[in-house]
Amino acid sequence: MLPSQVLAELGPVLTGERDLAHTAKGALEVVMAAIRASSGALFRFQEKPAMLASIAAQGFVVFPQTAVFPLLPKHVHALTNTPGPQRISRERCDTFLSSTGNISSVWFRCIAPLRVHGKLIGALLLGEREEGVEYTPEVLKQIGDLAPFIALAIHNHQLMMSLEERTADNLKLIASVRSFWDEALAAFAATIDVKSVQMQGHSLRVGRYAAGIAESLGVTAAEVHEMRAAGYLHNIGMVTVDKHLFSKPGALEPGEFLEMADHTVQGHRIVSTVQFPWPKIPEVVRSHHERADGSGYPDHLHNDEVSMPVKIVAVADTFDAMLSDRPYRKKLTLGEAAAQLSWLAPSKLDGEVVHALLVQLRRDAGSRVSPPRPWSTTQDKTRKMFLDPAVACNISPPDIDHMVSELNRRITRGRVTLS
Ligand SMILES: [Fe+2]
Repeated sequence: MLPSQVLAELGPVLTGERDLAHTAKGALEVVMAAIRASSGALFRFQEKPAMLASIAAQGFVVFPQTAVFPLLPKHVHALTNTPGPQRISRERCDTFLSSTGNISSVWFRCIAPLRVHGKLIGALLLGEREEGVEYTPEVLKQIGDLAPFIALAIHNHQLMMSLEERTADNLKLIASVRSFWDEALAAFAATIDVKSVQMQGHSLRVGRYAAGIAESLGVTAAEVHEMRAAGYLHNIGMVTVDKHLFSKPGALEPGEFLEMADHTVQGHRIVSTVQFPWPKIPEVVRSHHERADGSGYPDHLHNDEVSMPVKIVAVADTFDAMLSDRPYRKKLTLGEAAAQLSWLAPSKLDGEVVHALLVQLRRDAGSRVSPPRPWSTTQDKTRKMFLDPAVACNISPPDIDHMVSELNRRITRGRVTLS
């Protein structure tokens, strides 16, 4: 076969979107057919510990799953520096291969080192040629012409695998760092709320609801994570507030209200000194009591002046507060809280965010009234409930559907009026 024909056959084999084993097997078959070798094996070079390990073999009666030749420095040196394919014999084997492998080097008659930019990548070892003909200088040259292409293909595969491994390692590292942050912030969130029995668990629940709303809005996993953290920390400024204010029955005096409201500014001051992996935390801490019509505090910002994370935590915070007892009022039922929340949008709370919360409630209510269907996806069956386990999901899907429809009507009417 002409060298150009061999290269034409080898090209698609080496550049196809296949794994290393398939590519190696295809390349070996092309080379063996071209030079009429009856057996052969392709090896990749592993540096630490130095060895050749097989990635394809053909024509042997028995062959290990992975054949290996441990290499001494002199073998690596010879394979790296020999000018091209060499005939090997029982006597010359020791130059390139050790005798401590799990196959015998006497099976081979020719060795072609595979190198890229002078770096050893592997080796092509070939057995007897058909009818016992010799490896002539012309055949050795032909093998030498093909070797760089095979070497490059193996090298590229190894680079890709190494890149994938490094990416996987980095993702694992990120996951472990996130897990660490989650646990540390959850513990911190619990300490923020210790000043009052009625506040206990509030920050953890706000983190839970904020993450659930974010999921419903279809944001990325990283943004969901950020929202959970923002919910955990939104009230961090409460650590500066006099604990007696939390248990005072009735309305707060103006001065007391100012002290309580100042937890946004004090919290912002605290978190601004910390380099969080989530850039929106300081803004959420400062602005989670702002309201869409500018009636909130501390900066009287309107809906279009705060970011989506602020709007999400504002809704999550309000929702959990409605479902919790306070010294001056009893908690609302889930239906009452959902209805009030819905009525507060879009004048006080962001309509899109309240809608996202109602969607999560609808899912909870739906999974409560009907068991998982046989054709449910795995995601359906493993879906985590949005509501905190302590909250009874005593609301019907049609009631939520009605709220959603009313909310959509108000939001649409608002847009028409504004235009
Ligand atoms: Fe707050």
